[in-house]
Amino acid sequence: DWVMKDYANEFIEEVRKKVGDGHVMGAVSGGVDSTVAAVLMTRAIGDRFHAVLVDNGCLRQDEAKNVLKRMRDDCHVNLRCVDASDRFLGLLKGVTDPEKKRKIIGGTFIEIFQEEANRIESELGVKCEYLLQGTLYPDVIESISYKGPSAIIKTHHNVGGLPASMSLKLIEPMRELFKDEVRELGMAMGIDEDSVWRHPFPGPGLAIRILGEVTAERVKILQQADKIVIDELRSSGHYRKIGQAFVVLLPCKTVGVMGDCRTYENVASVRCVETTDYMTADFYHLPYDVLATMSSRVINEVRGINRLCYDISSKPPATIEWE
Ligand code: XMP
Repeated sequence: DWVMKDYANEFIEEVRKKVGDGHVMGAVSGGVDSTVAAVLMTRAIGDRFHAVLVDNGCLRQDEAKNVLKRMRDDCHVNLRCVDASDRFLGLLKGVTDPEKKRKIIGGTFIEIFQEEANRIESELGVKCEYLLQGTLYPDVIESISYKGPSAIIKTHHNVGGLPASMSLKLIEPMRELFKDEVRELGMAMGIDEDSVWRHPFPGPGLAIRILGEVTAERVKILQQADKIVIDELRSSGHYRKIGQAFVVLLPCKTVGVMGDCRTYENVASVRCVETTDYMTADFYHLPYDVLATMSSRVINEVRGINRLCYDISSKPPATIEWE
């Protein structure tokens, strides 16, 4: 614990020296990496750190609201939220190709971040010179070992990928840490357990978990199913043993029966994986009784889903996400 407290104090000292009375910007998602980085920065320079949360319309249910509460109210981070749901969903209209979805979301995210930088400059008369990034050691290794496009399986969009044209100087407090060390650091800093133990969530969000076209209606269906599944994992005590858990909405309909009526609705699949590095993963052996509760709750409570499957594929050969 004291090792991590020292780590935090050292970083805070270092950053104060480096930044002086300058300003720093950073994108946050509410995930453990960006939360820990943002809280560290806030402890170092207070409101001269400007955090931006972009709501791309493909976040989990009430996610933007919850992140605002956790980061702004509880951790006092100077955080602004940009609700760009309509803009993202408008651009995603008719798009079904996974890589196109990623490119649209990544590109629009960068535009919005740049616009926010301009807004901070015009509203507050402040120019940010530095960019905070929650890069971890494995990200550093991965970008070194990925040699050219042949190695790229999916173009990952993360809150990290910001344009060189902004010419911001990078601050990466967690460059030497592994994920479990970031969690330790977060705990040592007194950040709430929910933030510290969250599963990773991809930058493109639910857009790559809605196979086929992403619409506001389908986002809502998936958000409801996802909420039930995560709640059930938490209450049954499995959440922390799992590396990542989520629901995927499939682009096909199946026949079912509800009361005396025939239904023709969507199929969804639950995916839970055990992993340490996310490079390989095994499907999690979730007990049948937990699956049974999930299944009956999702099918009864979510209008638009009448069948639930469990993904029993490991990585490789399957990837963790379906797109
Ligand atoms: P895959 O599907 O490649 O996922 O086995 C490995 C890990 O990466 C996450 N992932 C992403 N994260 N932007 C992100 O920030 C992305 O575009 C992206 N695609 C996949 C995935 O959730 C898993 O944790």
